[in-house]
Amino acid sequence: MTEDKIAVIVLAAGMGTRMKSDLPKVLHPVAGRPMVSHLLATVAALSPERVVVVVGPGMEAVERAVAPHPTVVQAERLGTAHAVAQARAALEGFAGTVLVLYGDTPLLTGDTLRAMLARRRAADAPAVVVLGFTPAGGGDYGRLLLGPQGGLDGIIEYKDATPEQRALPLCNSGVMAVEGGALFGLLDRVGNANAKGEYYLTDIVALARADGRACAVVQGAEEELLGVNSRAELAAAEAIAQKRLRAAAMAAGATLIAPETVFFSWDTVLGRDVLVEPNVVFGPAVRVGDGVEIRAFCHFTGVSVGAGCIIGPFARLRPGARLGEGVHIGNFVEVKQAAVEDGAKINHLSYVGDARVGAGANVGAGTITCNYDGFDKHFTEIGAGAFIGSNSSLVAPVRVGDGATVGAGSVITKNVAEKALAVARGAQMELPAWSERFRARHQKKADPQ
Ligand code: UD1
Ligand code: MG
Repeated sequence: MTEDKIAVIVLAAGMGTRMKSDLPKVLHPVAGRPMVSHLLATVAALSPERVVVVVGPGMEAVERAVAPHPTVVQAERLGTAHAVAQARAALEGFAGTVLVLYGDTPLLTGDTLRAMLARRRAADAPAVVVLGFTPAGGGDYGRLLLGPQGGLDGIIEYKDATPEQRALPLCNSGVMAVEGGALFGLLDRVGNANAKGEYYLTDIVALARADGRACAVVQGAEEELLGVNSRAELAAAEAIAQKRLRAAAMAAGATLIAPETVFFSWDTVLGRDVLVEPNVVFGPAVRVGDGVEIRAFCHFTGVSVGAGCIIGPFARLRPGARLGEGVHIGNFVEVKQAAVEDGAKINHLSYVGDARVGAGANVGAGTITCNYDGFDKHFTEIGAGAFIGSNSSLVAPVRVGDGATVGAGSVITKNVAEKALAVARGAQMELPAWSERFRARHQKKADPQ
């Protein structure tokens, strides 16, 4: 049935001048992912037949971010109707429902879009379904003009509205579901004789009504429809996204002692019975296994953590850190691009990068893998069950064999055989009673008689 087919047009040609940024607005991240990618992920769940993104000139970065979806360039920014019209060729022959979305509304949910699609399928077959909302502060949104039966008769832009119309509570979110077969014919008839001199997409409602077609409103929550035009609105969108992610993490079985201080990325995965203490940040691509304890003030990016690990407080796990099960990572420890195998411990003040730490190894306080020579990165291997004494430097490339011991304070530049002891530090010398003589000499200088 053609009615069940969906095409999506995402408008993203706006410069986003109020962001005062070199990055196109829709690429600003919310919860670690560009706004437009959130939207595309939401629509992907509806299995659309086609998706087209309308971009402005010179927005190659947006084109790359939305690939493989095609983009069309709106050369001149003549209004939302003009922007949608740019998708005409891309939607040639499409007769289902066209969803028109704005690239800067990352919080829109699939359920709301589904409600709009369901309304399109109702017996009165509305040509246009508009997503309306009632923002608490009113605001300068377009106002929805309802008929006596509650159907939608038109949309008046705020700049063109009378004081009475401006006082109407129900506003246009900008999201529309339009009959594909009618859309471009309606757009052809939109003029620009209005306050902004723009071709308004909103005018298609009155045009459809003039043709005797029904139009309808579905209402959505303000939280979901926040459009991001400034850095302050970006922060507001981030706050809503974080609230959702915290709720989802708790619903999936994690304990967050102070949820409002824990920050997630869109793709963070926490297992069951994970405990997260206050002030923890999860950057993109983090997976945490069951029963992990994450103590306060930890930072994770691009990391996998096996079941039963204890991390922190104050640990930093960077991209490519892969922890096995039951690993302990303590305070002020940084791990990057390293496999730390089951049961290994790195408990204090260490840097472990470009390395493998074998199962059950114990890496002492202040151990540094010296992985970088200014040009290349080199690998350090610490064997299973090895013991690295405190304040040791392992100058890569180097290997410490299974079960070997490195004496505290060593600078290890050569491979250590398994089960061996390596000590590489200045030999200790001792002069008996030297301190006593030294102090006596100074005492005499200060007090000659
Ligand atoms: C629009 C609606 C208004 C609604 C509001 C919700 C129209 C005429 N008005 O107003 O009823 O209450 O959104 O936020 O549609 N864009 C292009 N090309 C253009 C113009 C706009 O791609 O030529 C894109 C923008 O990048 C943006 C979206 O369309 O993503 C909306 O444009 P904007 O100028 O923000 O419209 P509003 O004045 O906010
Ligand atoms: Mg706007």
